[in-house]
Amino acid sequence: MKKLKIGNIELKNNIILAPMAGITDLPLRLLAKSGGAGLVYTEMASAKALIHHDEKTKRLLEISDNERPVTVQIFGGDSYTMAEAAKIARDIGADIVDINLGCPARKVAKVGAGVKLLSNKRLVHEILETVVKSVAIPVTIKIRIGLLPGQNVATEIIKIAQNSGIKMVVVHARYASQGHFGSPDLQSFAAACFGAKIPIVANGGIVDEKTATGFFDIPDCSGIMIGRGAIGNYSIFKRLEKFLNYDETLPVASKNEKIEWLKQHAQYSIDYYGKKRGLVLMRKVAHYYVKDFLNATKIRCMINTMVTLADFSNLIEFIVNNASQQTV
Ligand SMILES: Cc1cc2nc3c(=O)[nH]c(=O)nc-3n(C[C@H](O)[C@H](O)[C@H](O)COP(=O)(O)O)c2cc1C
Repeated sequence: MKKLKIGNIELKNNIILAPMAGITDLPLRLLAKSGGAGLVYTEMASAKALIHHDEKTKRLLEISDNERPVTVQIFGGDSYTMAEAAKIARDIGADIVDINLGCPARKVAKVGAGVKLLSNKRLVHEILETVVKSVAIPVTIKIRIGLLPGQNVATEIIKIAQNSGIKMVVVHARYASQGHFGSPDLQSFAAACFGAKIPIVANGGIVDEKTATGFFDIPDCSGIMIGRGAIGNYSIFKRLEKFLNYDETLPVASKNEKIEWLKQHAQYSIDYYGKKRGLVLMRKVAHYYVKDFLNATKIRCMINTMVTLADFSNLIEFIVNNASQQTV
């Protein structure tokens, strides 16, 4: 089996959970790990907030030994702040620190960070070199294939990354202008990773064997990263590992399995945040578990208003009854 090596850290496979702000908190990361993810990422954290010891930001980066190896992702627009934040991430217990060079969100762009940096290669080089020198743990980056369709910047950024001591590059193969929707550009991805000397991992639209194979068949693709396709569907990691590496096909998750994960997720969330906050935070993520269930409107409404354990039990009862009426 292909195993990814990131600096001195060898993963158990080459299938990674994507960082997702507001989603990949500790409860979800533990579920992804139990489903077979080779590596998990925290939600992105502002480097500036970290160096100002913002407690909310530090809480985002709480790590459990049960999820190791774990990457802490930071964003920022200057090399000093990023290097100081990387040291804090290391001290918090990160195994790997990742620099976000792919996020188009306004709160990230306004500090000149994320995808905004991709149009300033000199600054990218300076930030990468400074961060790599500031910590002994591996430093990785997550980028976009480009800003606008047809404008591949990844090829050049990968070269800069290699020369700066970066140990892995994840390429979200959608253009920044696409946001998180539309097809990834596999051809440009193949061109970008051709001949790379460090692992290049593919991301964007991977939800099953077919979409994973599209990337995996590219000779210099070292692994895949899954975002939304893994939420409430944690066995996807084991399934794709078996399929891509051993040509074995495992069954897709059943509705009952998804319901069990949802219950487990709510329990982890309550244990971690407390009863009320734990359930309210589940509202954002619970939708992913039930997106192919019958009576979506009613389910959505129940999720959006749940506050108490009784609300959650009613939701589970409703979707269990629903699932038993659905044949597929
Ligand atoms: C709700 C949400 C939050 C995200 N937050 C982050 C983030 O914090 N850092 C990051 O690098 N990418 C972030 N992304 C992008 C994902 O990591 C990933 O690149 C994107 O979802 C494409 O992968 P997918 O098609 O498998 O979902 C986020 C995406 C979503 C949908």
